[in-house]
Amino acid sequence: MKALKVLTAAALAATLVSGCSGSSSSTSVKKVGIIQMMDHTSLNTIKKAYDGEMKALGYNSKNIKYTFKNGQGNTNTLASIANEFQGEDLDCVVAIATPAAQAVAKLANKTPIIFSAVSDPVGAKLTSSLTKPDKNMTGTSDEVQVNQIIDKALEVQPKLKTMGLLYNKGEANSVTNIKNVKAYLAKKGIKTTEATVTKVSEVQSAMNVLASKCDAVFSPNDNTVASAMSVASKAANATKTPFYVGADSMVKDGGFLTVGIDYEELGKETARMCDKVLKGKKVSSLPVKVFKTNLNIYVNQKTLKTLGLKLPASIKDDKKYIKM
Ligand code: TRP
Repeated sequence: MKALKVLTAAALAATLVSGCSGSSSSTSVKKVGIIQMMDHTSLNTIKKAYDGEMKALGYNSKNIKYTFKNGQGNTNTLASIANEFQGEDLDCVVAIATPAAQAVAKLANKTPIIFSAVSDPVGAKLTSSLTKPDKNMTGTSDEVQVNQIIDKALEVQPKLKTMGLLYNKGEANSVTNIKNVKAYLAKKGIKTTEATVTKVSEVQSAMNVLASKCDAVFSPNDNTVASAMSVASKAANATKTPFYVGADSMVKDGGFLTVGIDYEELGKETARMCDKVLKGKKVSSLPVKVFKTNLNIYVNQKTLKTLGLKLPASIKDDKKYIKM
């Protein structure tokens, strides 16, 4: 009898749900397309934090319909996802990482775009101004504070003279961060050697080259390097070369040290901006939110041990020091 009751209730609920999905009420269901450039620790963290915050803001399967696509780090895949989104009459598109945002930029003539973790939105041509977005695209930014990372590198290695730079020059985000770090290294009298990659499979040999001839290696928050951290850090550690990186996730995945932001906070802020747009706020009135304060110092303890280095008191005693 009880089972029958439950069954009846379930059937009734099903009827109610299907009754609600009719065209008359569907206008209240928002449609959001999410495009993530690829899988790596940081982008997955951002997506999860975004999802959690959207739920906290009251979105659920009754009032929002997500289409989530992952570009698998492939330019063609990203472009075809953008084409797919074009036919879907979306209320908002959320794009995680620079190459994903660039792929969907052409949809902005019809659909507001909230980008997430784009290091240099102006350099990536998503807006002409951070304070007054003019292309129907805004969002969160994670420009790497390269000066602070290099300062820490010099505290750990006061005799640092040569720095290898490892990145994908096809990533607009990395081009800007590398330009900034080169300027700062030049000021500090540190010589640089570059090794660029175009895909994940090239990271290991590029690291081998740099680690064999430099006192240390630096990568910004480069998506290609971030998704090859286990091989990259292994190659650096094999020659006891400190590998400074541009994101906490890259430290977690084997890199030595960074000074950086909390990406969970960035993911949540992306959701808050998306919520505002869904509630009718104009993109042009939402400045890009740049994350560059409240930075922590992240150090991978296993890598620290492997390198046989000692951290100076300036890092060890800092309240912002986080062991990973
Ligand atoms: N900032 C990167 C971009 O502009 C995306 C990104 C976020 C990232 N977190 C990261 C890249 C961590 C490498 C590591 O595309």
